[in-house]
Amino acid sequence: MYMNRPIGVFDSGVGGLTVLKKLTAEMPEENYIYFGDTARVPYGEKSKEQLLGFGREILDWYKKNDVKMVLMACNTSSSVILDIVQKEYDFPVLGLIKPTAQYIASLDVKKIGLIATSATVKSNAYQRAINKLDSSMEVYQIPCPGLVEIVESGKINEKESRVIISKYITPLIEKNVEKIILGCTHYPYFENIIFEITHNNGLIIDPGEYLVSAAKEKLNEMNLNNTSGVESRKYYVSSNPEKFVSVGSKFFSDCKKAEQISF
Ligand code: DGL
Repeated sequence: MYMNRPIGVFDSGVGGLTVLKKLTAEMPEENYIYFGDTARVPYGEKSKEQLLGFGREILDWYKKNDVKMVLMACNTSSSVILDIVQKEYDFPVLGLIKPTAQYIASLDVKKIGLIATSATVKSNAYQRAINKLDSSMEVYQIPCPGLVEIVESGKINEKESRVIISKYITPLIEKNVEKIILGCTHYPYFENIIFEITHNNGLIIDPGEYLVSAAKEKLNEMNLNNTSGVESRKYYVSSNPEKFVSVGSKFFSDCKKAEQISF
């Protein structure tokens, strides 16, 4: 049955698990195939051409796996390549930027901060998407090299992380931003540290939440919700499955085993 086909969810590594966790809470009945491109992380320091090559390889692989939809649980890919590859596949490919920009445009705020990878900041994708809907909003963008590597290495709660995150977030607080977008799916791993620095629960926007809503809406619209009663979650990586599981399972305990693949 078409509706039983899996949903593909991918990222450069463990970051997309922060989205998958939300997805499975919201739509536990679906089948998911997660892919973490751990051999090529970090994506945030790669060129557009490289990201396009990676994205096409991953989407071709999902096509072979007969997916009904693919979610880019990666802000970098969503910012840099989504518009191009979306047109190349016969299943829907959704990203994080547009649904988040729509939510932000509905808020009564004027100053938005963004922390993200260098590639996401360079693309200006968030700023463009937000200003297309509300040109009066100001978006302050901070590239945050190094944070993805800290998460992937599992050294999330070390003192060094706090120092680096504080360095990235302080200029936004000084600008009196009313919201801060966590523009990389690895950053929710730092949620405790970010709260310690900001002391404000209402400040943070996690784009994963809005991608989940968009995916749910899309499935409803296509009448493709899985009602078969059979569900599964499978995890694949391009290198080092043990390390992926050891770091990823701390955030999402469902991730107990991963298989290594090559394209
Ligand atoms: N987690 C991804 C993102 O949201 C990719 C980060 C990276 O590999 O640099 O941008």
